[in-house]
Amino acid sequence: MTHGGKTTLLNIIGCMDVPTSGTYIFDEMDLSHEKEKNLSAIRGKRIAFVFQHFALIDEYTVFENVEVPLLKQALSKAERKKKVTSALKTVGIAELSGKKPTHISGGQKQRVAIARAIACGAEVILADEPTGALDSKTSKEIMGIFSDLNATGKTVILITYDRQIASYAKRLITIQDGRILSDEKM
Ligand SMILES: Nc1ncnc2c1ncn2[C@@H]1O[C@H](COP(=O)(O)OP(=O)(O)O)[C@@H](O)[C@H]1O
Ligand SMILES: [Mg+2]
Repeated sequence: MTHGGKTTLLNIIGCMDVPTSGTYIFDEMDLSHEKEKNLSAIRGKRIAFVFQHFALIDEYTVFENVEVPLLKQALSKAERKKKVTSALKTVGIAELSGKKPTHISGGQKQRVAIARAIACGAEVILADEPTGALDSKTSKEIMGIFSDLNATGKTVILITYDRQIASYAKRLITIQDGRILSDEKM
């Protein structure tokens, strides 16, 4: 639904925002009134975002884009390279490592963004309309990647207003005007 508060909810789940009322519990921790410093620590380690318009840095190569969140972790250059290379393989774009985002397709850009989320080791991947800028064939490929990640134990929370995209989910929560309309196990 449009402007239902979906992005706001995802930002709270992702520790980018705190609720004005109500309670947010992440992994048994009440984060409703948590300080930015602590939220930022959780966000950096355990949660990664994927956006509709990819949020890549155009001046960086594909490799460097995926490496960005790893620079905050205490890793050697070789360890970073291993993680980046492995993540790029997982999303099927190892050969694009040296390219700049302006020279690859939208579907490939979204794969880079997903590789960035994988490489940093996040258990939870939050995706805000990740197929909103992609054609339907590419969208299906991207959803296939999210399904595979979920099968390997990652939690994927994804916003969409496309029924077909939503049909990939194991649980479907419908939101309208800031309220949950339905919450179904699929
Ligand atoms: N629970 C809420 N109570 C009050 N305002 C809200 C709530 N959720 C969202 N909003 C406001 O509504 C607007 C649209 O929210 P947003 O999360 O961007 O919606 P969506 O992503 O579903 O389009 C924003 O200005 C946001 O601050
Ligand atoms: Mg939104």
